[in-house]
Amino acid sequence: MLVRPVRYAGYMPTVEQVRDVLATINDPELHRSIVDLGMVKEIDIAEPNVTVDLALTIPGCPLKSFFQEVLPAKITDAFPEITDVTVNLGSMTEEERKALVGDVRGESPSSFAQPDSRTTLIAVGSGKGGVGKSTVTVNLAASLAERGYSVGLLDADIWGFSASRMLGMDSQPTVVDERLIVPLDAYGLKMISMGNLVEDDRPVVMRGPMLHKILQSFLTDVLWDEPDYLIIDMPPGTGDISLSLSQFVPGCSIVLVTTPQQAAEKVAERAGHMAEKVGMKVAGVIENMAYMLCDNCDERTYPFGSGGGQELADVFSAPLLGQIPLDRPMMELAETGKPTVLSQPDSSSAMAFEEAADALVEKLPPRPKKRIRKPLPLITAPSAG
Ligand SMILES: Nc1ncnc2c1ncn2[C@@H]1O[C@H](COP(=O)(O)OP(=O)(O)OP(=O)(O)O)[C@@H](O)[C@H]1O
Ligand SMILES: [Mg+2]
Repeated sequence: MLVRPVRYAGYMPTVEQVRDVLATINDPELHRSIVDLGMVKEIDIAEPNVTVDLALTIPGCPLKSFFQEVLPAKITDAFPEITDVTVNLGSMTEEERKALVGDVRGESPSSFAQPDSRTTLIAVGSGKGGVGKSTVTVNLAASLAERGYSVGLLDADIWGFSASRMLGMDSQPTVVDERLIVPLDAYGLKMISMGNLVEDDRPVVMRGPMLHKILQSFLTDVLWDEPDYLIIDMPPGTGDISLSLSQFVPGCSIVLVTTPQQAAEKVAERAGHMAEKVGMKVAGVIENMAYMLCDNCDERTYPFGSGGGQELADVFSAPLLGQIPLDRPMMELAETGKPTVLSQPDSSSAMAFEEAADALVEKLPPRPKKRIRKPLPLITAPSAG
């Protein structure tokens, strides 16, 4: 919430008063006051001008024009006597940046492994490739965000990333420091994907330990700011990434995605057992491409058979969270970079995703927000006489 500063009419402000006004401006990426972040350097007042020296976190900061607009507006609005504001943009020194990273990290160590972490982590996996993990991930995440939850989406398919494409994000995240990466914002979701960190979709050759390190960095160096949910798109296969994930975040749950076929169900079952072996809990099952709806009536046909989803859910005594129809327009729309739940909210697949999101929230409700204890006001005894 923006607090409208008091207007100081009729006299020239002091440096401290200008600083107080600037303190109400948050860095749009780090969501903290620019004064607290140490970005405001010099403030010079020479009636009727104010000059502010602002140090940006990184030299090529994309927010230059934001600061050039917002700072003068705030100052002239608060102090009618000031008619001209000059903002000199510089950038932080290496040391200042390190101090800022330390401060921000100190406030919110994004270690989801902490016992008091309030984020519910949900991996979406299947074992088998191409059954719709990424489609399910983006649509579940978008449905949860639509419901007003804060949601992060981590694309753990580091080699075969697809979340960036599915969410139409081709920009690069701001990397303040290797320990402080600002996630991108896609339709209100915070997201990180290797697709936004490599150039031109060029293949990245990575060995197991490197994947492990990147996943760790995605979990700990990205400024997630404790969302209600972190949804993690898993790569196909049962192996390395689940193991790494379980090491970094032991409390992570998994949603298994399968198609109705026996072959897919059996692979997802192995993925589920593997996940349980490393300490993850199966939160539920989503059966994708479960049926086709006739164009002109409500009749369902089952091109891939039926029953795989329920069977899988029974194996893990977990709920069948949803059955998503095979929806040709959805496949075509996937290329437009907008999840179906947002681009075609009335379609049968979007409604099935919405129901699955509701079932997921019922199974894993968000954890309560931590209460910030405010210091009690000092009460001084009234002086006698
Ligand atoms: N219910 C559906 N109806 C129609 N097409 C779908 C459906 N679900 C997924 N698809 C399409 O199937 C393809 C594979 O989906 P997706 O990429 O989500 O699978 P995946 O399991 O993440 O694959 P990978 O294992 O390669 O990561 C995509 O082209 C996607 O648009
Ligand atoms: Mg995928």
